Amino acid sequence: MALEMDIAALLSEAELAVREAGLLFNDRELAGHIHHKNKTDYVTEVDTGIQELLRRRLAEILPEARFMGEEQDNSGLDTSGLVWVLDPVDGTTNFIHRLRQSAVSLALISDGQPLLGIVFNPDSDECFTAIAGCGAKLNGHEICVSRTETLSESLVAVGTNPAFRQLGDRNFALMRALFDRCIDIRRFGAASLDFCWVACGRFDAYAECRLNAWDYAAGLLILREAGGVVTDLAGASPDMFSPSDIAASNGLLAKELLEALHNICCLLYTSDAAD
Ligand code: IPD
Ligand code: CA
Ligand code: CA
Repeated sequence: MALEMDIAALLSEAELAVREAGLLFNDRELAGHIHHKNKTDYVTEVDTGIQELLRRRLAEILPEARFMGEEQDNSGLDTSGLVWVLDPVDGTTNFIHRLRQSAVSLALISDGQPLLGIVFNPDSDECFTAIAGCGAKLNGHEICVSRTETLSESLVAVGTNPAFRQLGDRNFALMRALFDRCIDIRRFGAASLDFCWVACGRFDAYAECRLNAWDYAAGLLILREAGGVVTDLAGASPDMFSPSDIAASNGLLAKELLEALHNICCLLYTSDAAD
């Protein structure tokens, strides 16, 4: 789909809106209003407040784009053409516990391909951005991935996807496979920031099972634009609108990472229903 608007101008407007929405992180009263999606998956009124604010602002900025947000029912949403994909608070459990490792994650997708991405952590005032084909930035400065060549020299981020307990065996097998090969693993609790921290070289690689579009759409673009490689565990490009198992790295590690995770690909989930 042809986009009439200048993408750089669009990114600036969207970033302003995201920064404005991020101010809601300071509202600890709203943060204290917590609802359960399931036993280990929470949503606060900051999540819903940010989503509502951005849904309205983005409709003004680009009326022709559809809107997908974690805290709404997205079933039946037509994902062709232009779609904003928002995780209003990625790392909600961190946010509730005041761990300061959470972000607003926003991407604009055009026919399945990310056009721009923004991942903003209001607590650290770090805003990662990217435009397809134009590189990635942190607070306006270009970033790039690390030059680490082997897993044995790598610091690797992982995720546990706590809302899907049936993935436990898979997730812990993935961690074990990586821990056995790298310097150490880290589990910081916000997928979008895990991607961005690989993008700026703080981590060398990152892997997690079953991420949703809102968890990874912006981070994937930012990491790719910083020189990294993002695939599923079989080495294919993830389907943007389906839950995906993710292997992300600085690119130099991509082959070794996939080899390390080869057996995880074949591990079946232990049950079908979330607790
Ligand atoms: C979660 C975080 C977490 C990841 C989970 C995600 P949420 O997002 O990104 O790091 O392990 O898979 O669901 O629920 O805080 O938006
Ligand atoms: Ca998320
Ligand atoms: Ca969320």
